[in-house]
Amino acid sequence: MAQEPPHREGGAPEVLVIGQGVAGLSAARALAERGLKVRVVAKAPVERSNSYLAQGGVAAAFAADDSPALHAADTLAVGRGLNRRQTVKTVVAAGPAVLRELLPSGVFALDSRGLPLLDREAGHSRARIWHAPDGYTGRALTGWLWQTVHSHTAIEWEPGRVVRLITRHGRVVGAWVATPDGAVTPRLAAHVVLATGGLAGLWRFTTNPPETQGDGLWLAYDAGAVLADLEFVQFHPTVLAQPQEGRPALLLTEALRGFGAHLVDRSGRRILGDHPAGELAPRDEVARAVASHAPVYLSLRHLDPDAVHRHFPALSQALAERGLDLARDYIPVRPGAHFTMGGVLTDSDGRTTVPGLWAVGEVAMSGLHGANRLASNSLLEGLVLGRRVAAAVAEAARASRPERVPTVYEPLPAWEVPAELGELLDRTLSVFRTPTEMQALRQALSREASTPAVVLCRLMVEAALARTESRGSHWRRDAAEPRPEWRGHLLHQRERGMWFEPGEAAFARRRVPRPAHLHPAEGI
Ligand code: SIN
Repeated sequence: MAQEPPHREGGAPEVLVIGQGVAGLSAARALAERGLKVRVVAKAPVERSNSYLAQGGVAAAFAADDSPALHAADTLAVGRGLNRRQTVKTVVAAGPAVLRELLPSGVFALDSRGLPLLDREAGHSRARIWHAPDGYTGRALTGWLWQTVHSHTAIEWEPGRVVRLITRHGRVVGAWVATPDGAVTPRLAAHVVLATGGLAGLWRFTTNPPETQGDGLWLAYDAGAVLADLEFVQFHPTVLAQPQEGRPALLLTEALRGFGAHLVDRSGRRILGDHPAGELAPRDEVARAVASHAPVYLSLRHLDPDAVHRHFPALSQALAERGLDLARDYIPVRPGAHFTMGGVLTDSDGRTTVPGLWAVGEVAMSGLHGANRLASNSLLEGLVLGRRVAAAVAEAARASRPERVPTVYEPLPAWEVPAELGELLDRTLSVFRTPTEMQALRQALSREASTPAVVLCRLMVEAALARTESRGSHWRRDAAEPRPEWRGHLLHQRERGMWFEPGEAAFARRRVPRPAHLHPAEGI
């Protein structure tokens, strides 16, 4: 536990948004447009957000042969029975209009008529991926949003890490912010929106920046909110497998396979040649195929090299810097931790189970993704649900005033991540899971101090051990089939522990009974 921090009095903006990926920026922008005063707190520059690093693109039905209904059907099919239908419908229905508004932004590659050039990705029955001209869509979209939001006079920006939420009588009323100068400041707000991303940066081999440590999940859990589906972490099947690859490792976008790339073994045989969807099989299946046939390579040798380099200029360049030619070489790949499907349980307006606390984007479990996210649905989620959370917060803000909370000392957690945690997760909580390895992880975690990362890993491994079936990204060698009785969600709450809710019962709007004290400092 940290020593007493140097306190400064904080102001009282109406809404605190934590995180500046696509979800946080969309929410902040829409809140400011609705006349609310906003403070955005982010611990890392925008370039280190997962949204900024995203390749692929944004999925939304646009082509003549496509529709939101088909997009919903694909999302549900790969979600393996764990999506919330209403959230899926809401997000895919809003997608086309939200993206059409962005046509003049310059973010997306357009044809000569000014219409989007659409890619295909795994699990999509139609070409519906809107992408940037250079293929680095996250960079284009997040950069553009950041530019448009940054000059807004209603938004204040604060670099810093939120180290604990401030709760009063069961309501979140602000956050403690540790700023780079070493101060820890209480920032009060009528509403707090978590948009901090997921926790896949805890793995050693990951497409996420190391900052992606699950901050928002822990903050919500610590404040008494319900977390859900923590056993579901998606592994991207094609991450550059080079021993010196750093963190984040280089993602080789699924759009390459949409363009015709093959996945081959050492002898050049296609490992998914017998699958009806070939290389465009759902991501969980491709990850398992790649993990079981190692070493595996992406091969684009059968395609026109000029077309390959033209379509993927940024990736061609990134590979060239590593001595590889995207069009001519076998590119070694392996699955890497990529996306957190679980998160803070919310409805489709970002409402959590704790009053005053909202969550949106990867930190949230809104029910959009189920057990296996459909490619390029997450930037869409950030854009659509970022606006929805803003609308719901604006509505709620009419009825609430920022509380005057006495500034009291609160014990603040130490955020260190054990040095060996990433490799441990790579070994034990990966594409294939076994009870023996998961128990070893549990044992190892029991010897560690209860820092936020360790607490989250304990919750993940408890859920992964409890779910004695295989579904989506959670694949157990000892129970390699889905079991109907597990169609539902494992939930966690600090006071109550872990429990299971069948079907969509977890999403029924209700509050978890409030514990007597949300945390010790509340009694002061
Ligand atoms: C990719 O480009 O393959 C990643 C896109 C995503 O994860 O949605």
